[in-house]
Amino acid sequence: MVEANNTTVTLQVHRFTPRPERAERARGGSPFAKKSSPFGDGSDSAARRRPRGKQWVQEYTIPARPSDTVLDCLLTIKRTIDPTLAFRYSCGHGMCGSDAAAINGTPTLLCTATVRDWAKQPSTAPEVDDEGFRRTGDETANEPDVPAENVENNIPEGSLGVIELASLPGFPPQRDLIADIDPMLNQIRKLTPYLQADGVLATTAEGKVDVFEYLQNPEQLAKYETLSNCIACGVCEGACPVYAGGDAFVGPAALIWASRFINDSRDTKAMDRMDAIDTADGVAGCQSVRACSRHCPRGIDVGEEMWQIVAKVRER
Ligand code: SF4
Ligand code: FES
Repeated sequence: MVEANNTTVTLQVHRFTPRPERAERARGGSPFAKKSSPFGDGSDSAARRRPRGKQWVQEYTIPARPSDTVLDCLLTIKRTIDPTLAFRYSCGHGMCGSDAAAINGTPTLLCTATVRDWAKQPSTAPEVDDEGFRRTGDETANEPDVPAENVENNIPEGSLGVIELASLPGFPPQRDLIADIDPMLNQIRKLTPYLQADGVLATTAEGKVDVFEYLQNPEQLAKYETLSNCIACGVCEGACPVYAGGDAFVGPAALIWASRFINDSRDTKAMDRMDAIDTADGVAGCQSVRACSRHCPRGIDVGEEMWQIVAKVRER
């Protein structure tokens, strides 16, 4: 069915422009800070966590259909209204994980979220009464129903509603809707996210690696197959109230990657991997809040997997 295209949506975008780096930092940091600072190695990780810059909310109203994705809307804005708006994407259909952001406060992917699902209608109750007082939630609840004509007046004709956008929570913003997810990727890297199997690589007469294979039965594959779908988007980390930057807890994404190889019958480093996450900021950091499970775009029940890996580490 072809949808009519006389409707609009309003995007409220939390924008951020970092303060320009000073010349000496661009050259590799202050020589004084590197030699004498007692607070680390001169890296600017602390600054990355709390970037300074200009923050503001910008509103864009554009033509949109209910089936459009939020990414479609952002591309329309970028191409026709404001080329300075910054956001990140690659595949456009939920496979690469590069476009995670907060939509109406919820971490999710821009390319799979539709206007139909996320546009909110503006409040139908007037915010200020006849005498100029702002109404509280309780007063509003006791009010008689707002007449239909008032409701119509509050919602612009043809508007599908409002969508609020911000960069992924739990990570420092880099610019507008782009978050710096390096902390998560570094945590994943530390846990050696690749297969470590026994076996000698055979080579051909020309010195090239010969084909070889490790056989698995379906039951062995089923133990990690879902986990191997993780695209490191960071949605679970953005939803986790304990992660918050990764200093005190490596975060659910890193533990999912560790668990993926611990459960792989071909991997020979399961004990080493469990040692690596059996720390205060590893499995012990998980508080079983399970907020991580709610919006995984790859269908991983992250909270349940956390529970399983915690039990496995403790029982070994
Ligand atoms: S577990 Fe799911 S939400 Fe978390 S990083 Fe992987 S794909 Fe994203
Ligand atoms: S753009 Fe690749 S997952 Fe959204």
